[in-house]
Amino acid sequence: MAAYSDTVIEHFQNPRNAGEIEHPDGEATKSNPVCGDRMRVTIRVADGHVAEVRWQTRGCPPAIATSSFTSEMVRGWTLEEVESLTRERIAEAIGGLPGDKVHCSVLAADALRGAIANYRSRTP
Ligand code: FES
Repeated sequence: MAAYSDTVIEHFQNPRNAGEIEHPDGEATKSNPVCGDRMRVTIRVADGHVAEVRWQTRGCPPAIATSSFTSEMVRGWTLEEVESLTRERIAEAIGGLPGDKVHCSVLAADALRGAIANYRSRTP
């Protein structure tokens, strides 16, 4: 794993916020169109901000690491800030990903956007 940043390796070895929120405010499951790996995200929302993220990912090491890293990064962000999050920003924030692995960070961005869309669809 020499091509990965220390942050990627650390989050892969010690993932944070894995699991599922009971009775979440929003949820989504997304597949990576490139490889078919999957991520499920549940979120709790408070005052227009993401208060908690839990995730379950079936995927490669960078997918696990970016799931963990992103679940910490976006805590406290507004829904709009999370909706504008890109896979490139995640890859940059985690210390870079090898070129053929940048697509792995799309899962976290897509699943979070999906969970917020689900939250919005439930909110009158
Ligand atoms: Fe599928 Fe990385 S190879 S998410």
